[in-house]
Amino acid sequence: MSLGWLARPGSALRGELAIPGDKSISHRAIMLAAIADGTSRVSGFLEGEDTRATARIFGQLGVAIESPSPSERIVHGVGLYGLTGSAEPLDCGNAGTGMRLLSGLLAGQGFDSILAGDESLSRRPMRRVIEPLMAMGARIESESGGLPPLRIHSNNNLQSIDYELQIASAQVKSAVLLAGLYAQGDTIVREAHPTRDYTERMLAALGWPIEFRPGFARLSGGHRLRATNIQVPADFSSAAFFLVAATLVPGSDLLLRRVGMNPRRTGLLTALRLMGADITLENAGKQGGEAVADLRVCHTPLRGIIVPEALVPDMIDEFPALFAAAALADGETRITGAAELRLKETDRIAAMTAALQLLGADIAETPDGAVIQGGNLHGGSVGSRGDHRVAMSLAIAAQRASGEVRIGDCANVATSFPGFLELASASGFGLRLA
Ligand code: S3P
Repeated sequence: MSLGWLARPGSALRGELAIPGDKSISHRAIMLAAIADGTSRVSGFLEGEDTRATARIFGQLGVAIESPSPSERIVHGVGLYGLTGSAEPLDCGNAGTGMRLLSGLLAGQGFDSILAGDESLSRRPMRRVIEPLMAMGARIESESGGLPPLRIHSNNNLQSIDYELQIASAQVKSAVLLAGLYAQGDTIVREAHPTRDYTERMLAALGWPIEFRPGFARLSGGHRLRATNIQVPADFSSAAFFLVAATLVPGSDLLLRRVGMNPRRTGLLTALRLMGADITLENAGKQGGEAVADLRVCHTPLRGIIVPEALVPDMIDEFPALFAAAALADGETRITGAAELRLKETDRIAAMTAALQLLGADIAETPDGAVIQGGNLHGGSVGSRGDHRVAMSLAIAAQRASGEVRIGDCANVATSFPGFLELASASGFGLRLA
């Protein structure tokens, strides 16, 4: 039976919140620690279904991973060539990041692998990684249309590539770089629109020689990774739901601790400030090589904006939350250049448009975005299409609706934000299981 929520306006959002660890960094921490020499400790690991699936997969591939306490992992790295194949499919669950990065990492192994996923992941496009990896010599079979499951054949002879990304995607960039660890010669990835650089940063932190700057990364095969301790900051994308909610709910004053502030992730902060939000950074510093800060957010009325297209890659996961903000802002918000949203866990443009329309919003979708007239929302029954970020964004919108909002199919919130319901309720949200 699908898990539903009942959301209604609660009280002002107040207090201090500890947001769970970053999903992108947690995936990469397990992957790179697994193929490093020696033992790494990962703290702040996201206990989400996506990242746990990645950890489980490395267990299947012969890596011993201990969980001494929640949000901690001790990874006994097996070295670059120490993984062992699994006859069973490797189940990535709902995680596009898991599947795409693993495609690159497994393309140059001396064993075959099958990468599989849930119903949503099984509909997501993999040609974007298959093509560059096959150009490197990888042998990968997919279902028709480039869909999972992927059958990756053993290959000890990957060649390097100089690859220009066709779409802004950190997952594709990372897949190519991870394959590049096993390839002969210099692998280069060029990006017209720079994306999150966690793979590059973490490779450097584990001692792999890599040259990188926004839009460019180069590494060569034939080195080794050294184990290290990795401290994962709080996930900006999870914090984003509270940034929007506290902005929308009168009287709110919320402090979010030690949130990752990598500039390739914080586009929503810029967009919300353009809309008039009151968000300040306190205690800005570094944690494990990543910029972090405490974010204080107080309620302010929002006005509609034209979202600058240059911000899109830096806030790609935050559009569902932005839809909620825009639907409750004063005036019109225009989103363009965001067609990638249609290829996420669900088509997020269609899902947010349909759900907010059911609550009375005036939204017109376009092929690559939407035009949203801000106004008021009423209650109703809406679907999240099994998408974690859609579900949480609708819970935010409901905090300002005039009636109760039933949100269907919320179980996948556990993929990225376990404990959202409890944390949100404790901070003032009107939210409970239906
Ligand atoms: C991610 C990259 C982004 C993002 C996803 C995580 C990553 O996907 O949407 O949630 O960790 O590299 P794309 O590379 O498809 O844009």
